[in-house]
Amino acid sequence: MTEAVHTQRVFSGIQPSGNLTLGNYLGAVKRFVEMQDSGIETIYCMVDLHAITVWQDPATLRKNTHELAAAYIACGLDPKKSILFNQSQVSAHAELGWIFNCVARLGWMNRMTQFKDKAGKNAEKVSLGLYAYPSLMAADILAYKATHVPVGEDQKQHVELTRDIANKFNHDFGTDFFPEPEPVIAGAATRVMSLRDGTKKMSKSDPSDMSRINMTDDADTIAKKIRKAKTDPEPLPDTLEGLEGRPEARNLINIYAAISNQTPEQTLAQFAGQQFGQFKPALVDLAVAHLAPISAEMARLMSDVAEIDRILGDGANRAAAIADPILDDVKDIVGLIRSRS
Ligand code: TYM
Repeated sequence: MTEAVHTQRVFSGIQPSGNLTLGNYLGAVKRFVEMQDSGIETIYCMVDLHAITVWQDPATLRKNTHELAAAYIACGLDPKKSILFNQSQVSAHAELGWIFNCVARLGWMNRMTQFKDKAGKNAEKVSLGLYAYPSLMAADILAYKATHVPVGEDQKQHVELTRDIANKFNHDFGTDFFPEPEPVIAGAATRVMSLRDGTKKMSKSDPSDMSRINMTDDADTIAKKIRKAKTDPEPLPDTLEGLEGRPEARNLINIYAAISNQTPEQTLAQFAGQQFGQFKPALVDLAVAHLAPISAEMARLMSDVAEIDRILGDGANRAAAIADPILDDVKDIVGLIRSRS
């Protein structure tokens, strides 16, 4: 069988579960903007169906979805260039997600490290949705036959599972219908770490707000968090090897590099030999100059949620126009009758 050539298309998503962090920005949204501006078709989603795999207060979920949309736009996503929408408005995601629940194997799901981390010792009490979540994520991507998926390091395993699902579907039905999408894990900050502990991922769910920079933080808060970030007493080295065993130093260098579009090596060349007393003020200036306008623009956009709803509605129509015919083809391949007029 000759392999089908799949047109390049980018899909990615973020959960509207509040507290969008600098990790989400550097690991994901900043990459989304770069891919949008590279001329490939780009589709970016607020994955509200993923968010409800853990309890969400309904009013807060709505607000967080609006806020995430505002963040996308404030960071440079343009609703004219990219398709921006919330997942639940396009039913193809949930329908294809079910079909993929019947393709994915239990053994594959049992290997998902994020489920193990999130469920912890409480695995009997978490929702079935949390367990099935990676198969819905595969549906998000493959409902558009997306070929490229920009994500942070922590989502790599889920994109690999998506490839396994695409491959098994193709194999089971003797087709080359789905592409095997590539994770795009790029830039200097694919895994931004906590400001309080350089061995832990920066996360929206960390109980300490000082561990993360939120995209809604104002200039003073950003400055305070960076000034208080954990460091060590050594000066900055001149090579990456010199950062080994110094996770906090490595993290701050990666953050500086990612915000300023440098490599970590270039950042080190600039600051080698300096103490954190000199480096931190430079990082504060850079972070504030870059992030404060984004949070100000988010606040401005949030004052008109009707406009955000209009953008999401338009995006959902455009997304459905791509996904619905793909889902129809999947139903035909699987043998599900479609006879409604
Ligand atoms: P979520 O909402 O947890 O995170 C959104 C994106 O941010 C990245 N990220 C980070 N990158 C670097 N450093 C960090 N500390 C950090 N924290 C988060 C994540 O890797 C992700 O790219 N399952 C996904 C959402 C999703 C999705 C999809 C993504 C659902 N369907 C389809 C891509 C394609 C999630 O929970 O990401």
